[in-house]
Amino acid sequence: MTEEKAPHDTQALNKSRCTLDANQPVWLFGYGSLIYKVDFDYLQRTPAYIENWQRRFWQGSHDHRGTPDAPGRVATLLPHTGAVCMGMAYKVSPQVFEHLDHREKNGYLRLSTTLHLQSEPPQSTQGLVYIATEHNEAFLGPAAEGEADEREIARHIANARGPSGPNDEYVLRLAEALRSLNANDPHVFAIERYLLERGA
Ligand code: SIN
Repeated sequence: MTEEKAPHDTQALNKSRCTLDANQPVWLFGYGSLIYKVDFDYLQRTPAYIENWQRRFWQGSHDHRGTPDAPGRVATLLPHTGAVCMGMAYKVSPQVFEHLDHREKNGYLRLSTTLHLQSEPPQSTQGLVYIATEHNEAFLGPAAEGEADEREIARHIANARGPSGPNDEYVLRLAEALRSLNANDPHVFAIERYLLERGA
């Protein structure tokens, strides 16, 4: 039996899979553009990490950093035992997901996971994260085998742009944001380095 893929537009699916209590604020974990492009209201924000997920530029972008004919590449998370993914957690009112579901509609599904908030004092809580799994129509996967992957991804990204701007800007802003969180992400920093070598 072939597995059914999540469609390009996941808005309806997110709404039906995950109903939110209208009066209950929700913690959201951002690991990509949600770290540096905050175009939504939040009640509280703090650096945070989640475990057993690693960031990869393996998701196609048809609506932000590319087009349907020439998709760009944006971040998603892949399961990886022992990995730690640093990002930013936002406490938001449930109404904000109307906007977020639209913004993240290109293959991302909301999943529930444990967030480790680097608040004072540190605290763990359940929250939501948008993940585009390999079972979505826009998933691209790696661009090449092994160590060549980041170089090929950079080549792809250098040539892509979409309604939200050039694809390389997504990587450069994310890398800068991760540095300000003291987060080390060799995958992101390698792609950034290749883009800078190419003159980004
Ligand atoms: C995220 O930032 O958490 C999801 C992916 C993105 O919007 O870049």
